[in-house]
Amino acid sequence: MINIKVPATSANIGPGFDTLGLALNMFNHVALSKRADSIKRIIWETPDDAIDDSINLVKTALEYTLEKYNRSTLGYDLIMGQCDVPMSRGLGSSATAIVAGIYAANYLLDFALSKEEILLYATELEGHPDNVAPAIFGDMVISSYTEGKVIHDRVIFPEDIVFKVFIPDFELSTSAARKVLPKTYNIQQCVFNMSRLGLLINCLYTKRYDLLPFAVEDAVHQPYRLPLIQSAELIFEKCREIQSLGSFISGAGPTLIALMPLDHADTFDKQFEPFLATLESKWSLKTLTINKSGTTYSVES
Ligand code: HSE
Repeated sequence: MINIKVPATSANIGPGFDTLGLALNMFNHVALSKRADSIKRIIWETPDDAIDDSINLVKTALEYTLEKYNRSTLGYDLIMGQCDVPMSRGLGSSATAIVAGIYAANYLLDFALSKEEILLYATELEGHPDNVAPAIFGDMVISSYTEGKVIHDRVIFPEDIVFKVFIPDFELSTSAARKVLPKTYNIQQCVFNMSRLGLLINCLYTKRYDLLPFAVEDAVHQPYRLPLIQSAELIFEKCREIQSLGSFISGAGPTLIALMPLDHADTFDKQFEPFLATLESKWSLKTLTINKSGTTYSVES
């Protein structure tokens, strides 16, 4: 049996639309055991979480990978374990499912796939690499999906910055959040984002954290998505008041993230919680740290 643990991810980080993402210490768990026959069973550890097989992305990714290797007849017991990553909130839950499914298939295929192949299949299924790459490799990853290849590199994210993660009680589907985006952008918008993205990568390296609030600004997706996320502007305003190191929409939203220096992380919650209670929708506030290891697994006989 293989036990697989995949981290949540946050994509874009402001200006890095569809290219930049990072892994967070919050996890979904999946296990799989081999069968001698060709029966495919899905078992939910928490039956209340069960969804139909036809929309189960773990199964879709598993079967997609088996098909690539012409091994679709392989049977298995797939165990859907603890899921801490909320769905449709911009924290990469679909990426965790896709990556878990491919790792599960890899076990059935006696580990025939390289990590690069896992990344390629995951990107084919997800459409863009910004969530799946950090889910696989951990840390912050910049990646590009061109001509059927994923080019990627790790950006070492400093461990003295924590993520204050605002998760609302409402969902926003990625497809709805992509539909509001324009088809074309003008040169000022492109220059705006290029300047921020370059600066973001560099100031994390040079530890010029004072530049971060500027470096996480974005003109490509956030202005179009903010109207879909009730109270987001108010939360961002409060983050600026508290002098966070910048705040942004996590992935396609609706979760929002503020960066905070580790040594000021505790006071942030005390300042924020009474304010959150005044908002119309319900928001939970979590503190997460960067995940450095990506997907991990253990095999037991
Ligand atoms: N880069 C993607 C987006 C992440 O912003 O739409 C969500 O899958």
